[in-house]
Amino acid sequence: MDLDRPDNMMRLEFLNLPANVGVARNAVATFAAQAEFTLSDVEEIRLAVSEAVTNAVVHAYPGRRGWVRVNARLSGSLLELTVDDDGQGIADVALARQASYTTDPERMGLGFSFMEAFSDRLEVGPGPAGGTRVFMVKQPAAVPREEGSSSA
Ligand SMILES: Nc1ncnc2c1ncn2[C@@H]1O[C@H](COP(=O)(O)OP(=O)(O)OP(=O)(O)O)[C@@H](O)[C@H]1O
Ligand SMILES: [Mg+2]
Repeated sequence: MDLDRPDNMMRLEFLNLPANVGVARNAVATFAAQAEFTLSDVEEIRLAVSEAVTNAVVHAYPGRRGWVRVNARLSGSLLELTVDDDGQGIADVALARQASYTTDPERMGLGFSFMEAFSDRLEVGPGPAGGTRVFMVKQPAAVPREEGSSSA
């Protein structure tokens, strides 16, 4: 393990209340700031987390309370994120991921498109105990050259 930049993990669990979207966004952004992310990377991480957590808050548990869990892991400069809920799940993930697809006419149907644009990898499916799991990976836009490597 690199002692200057150790692997790190974080777990958050909160109720599906809109106020907690900002809690999750800020916690993950602070966590990610340990790695070599640029300000614009961190802004993209904030947006991707907001979309995933907002979906869990808005869609997973219609008319009832439920738990939302965020797991974050830093391995070197790679950030892996999962956002889980135990809600109703997504019947057709491929359809749900299409731009402008929404089951709520008040919404734009762009959450998954943003998550895809702002992460390096996005996987959506059922969680281990049902509900929905969103998995995202983010790498720094430009990893700084290793010390001692040639600049030529
Ligand atoms: N955690 C979830 N649980 C259940 N259904 C979900 C979940 N996340 C997304 N969905 C379904 O997938 C659809 C598409 O999600 P997406 O985030 O792309 O759009 P949206 O949430 O409807 O609109 P927007 O994100 O633009 O406000 C949702 O309308 C909803 O039907
Ligand atoms: Mg959404």
